Amino acid sequence: MSTEMNSPLAAAYQPLRVGPIQLKNRFIKAATNEGMSPNGIPSQQLVQFHAGVAAGGAALTTVAYCAVSDDGCTLPNQIQLNRQTLPHLRALTDAVHAAGGKASAQITHGGCFVFTRAPGQGRPLSASGGFNKIGLMSGMFFKKQMSEADMQRIAVDFARGARLAQEAGFDAVEIHMGHGYLLSQFLSPRYNQRKDAYGGSLENRLRFPRQVLRAVLDAVGNELAVICKFSMVEGARGGNHIDEGVQIARALAEEGAHLLVLSAGLNAESITTMFGSSFPPENRAVVTNPVMKFAMYLQQLAEKPREFKPLYLLKYARQIRAAVDVPLAYLGGLTSAEGVVELVDEGFEALALGRVLIHDPNWVNALGQGVARQSGCTACNRCVAMMYTEGGTSCVLGLPGDPILNSLPAAG
Ligand SMILES: Cc1cc2nc3c(=O)[nH]c(=O)nc-3n(C[C@H](O)[C@H](O)[C@H](O)COP(=O)(O)O)c2cc1C
Ligand code: SF4
Repeated sequence: MSTEMNSPLAAAYQPLRVGPIQLKNRFIKAATNEGMSPNGIPSQQLVQFHAGVAAGGAALTTVAYCAVSDDGCTLPNQIQLNRQTLPHLRALTDAVHAAGGKASAQITHGGCFVFTRAPGQGRPLSASGGFNKIGLMSGMFFKKQMSEADMQRIAVDFARGARLAQEAGFDAVEIHMGHGYLLSQFLSPRYNQRKDAYGGSLENRLRFPRQVLRAVLDAVGNELAVICKFSMVEGARGGNHIDEGVQIARALAEEGAHLLVLSAGLNAESITTMFGSSFPPENRAVVTNPVMKFAMYLQQLAEKPREFKPLYLLKYARQIRAAVDVPLAYLGGLTSAEGVVELVDEGFEALALGRVLIHDPNWVNALGQGVARQSGCTACNRCVAMMYTEGGTSCVLGLPGDPILNSLPAAG
């Protein structure tokens, strides 16, 4: 990397210790559902994608949504962490290491936010039972309130998933506690209406996510970095605000997480809080499932249009920074050299990039070499619709023509 020692960007290219591992610089590829694992099996395309991100300079690339059990997948083309997928994941981590990077597996369970039904699966699990609005798309209209035995089983699944990730050669695991998936359903007062020791106060709502973190730390924490991603704010009525976000960060740090990735929003209720920009109506054109199409339509109606602003989550992340000493990864709208300098100056140890690295996996190197200062990503969110296609997630700007616009009926 040619970043000179006195360049304002140089600090972002210094190594960073995260728990037991060392990253060569501060840049992390954030998890972005790749849609490249047909029937749960990681493809060669997925291997190449992550090897490309590593070759492009990011110190750590996060493999999105690895389900710890088969009832935890939200979509059929997501990775399942099991013995069958292990050799494919080993090929992926080997390729990432050969390209000079490290790999993190995002380990997760969808809870009631699932669109597929595993063989023999009953009602989808969640913090609380009752009507499952997400199930309108999958026919799973009711969810089951998890018993303590269910919680124990899922915590064991997370620990086993982390050990499988270690066996597959991963350097880190990222426990997904945000965006409305199972652990987020416990944290969120919108989803958690329990009356027992796992519901009510935030301390109670944190109990199960903390148990999962503890189980994963005990399983792999001496060898792998254990990262937690969570929503600082939920951006939806009745959901967590930043005061709760600060307390969640404190609790995860106290439990021993090695790094926190600071996200926001809930998939179903407040997707623009997560992305900082609206979703174009054209996105629906590539989605073939009519119910999913309709759900996207309703989501667009429900959320106000939102114009993208760089570093759109900084005001919340600053409050977390002020409250905890644990290393933090800023995430959300980092698109420029100026943004990198600002975040390093504000004390964020790591810088996570989602869409910018979908648009150009080489951006970290290009920035360091002085070839790039501003990403060409327009935050149009069309890549989000691509994950539902057979081709998998990609930037439409990098493809010949715009596959989303091309799939619309010709005008006139
Ligand atoms: C296509 C796409 C898929 C995503 N899938 C996931 C996912 O599987 N898990 C996750 O934690 N976040 C996911 N995200 C959210 C990103 O990690 C990140 O929060 C978001 O893109 C904002 O960061 P950015 O401004 O750097 O893109 C996804 C984002 C995109 C664009
Ligand atoms: S499609 Fe490309 S330009 Fe649009 S948000 Fe995704 S990565 Fe950025």
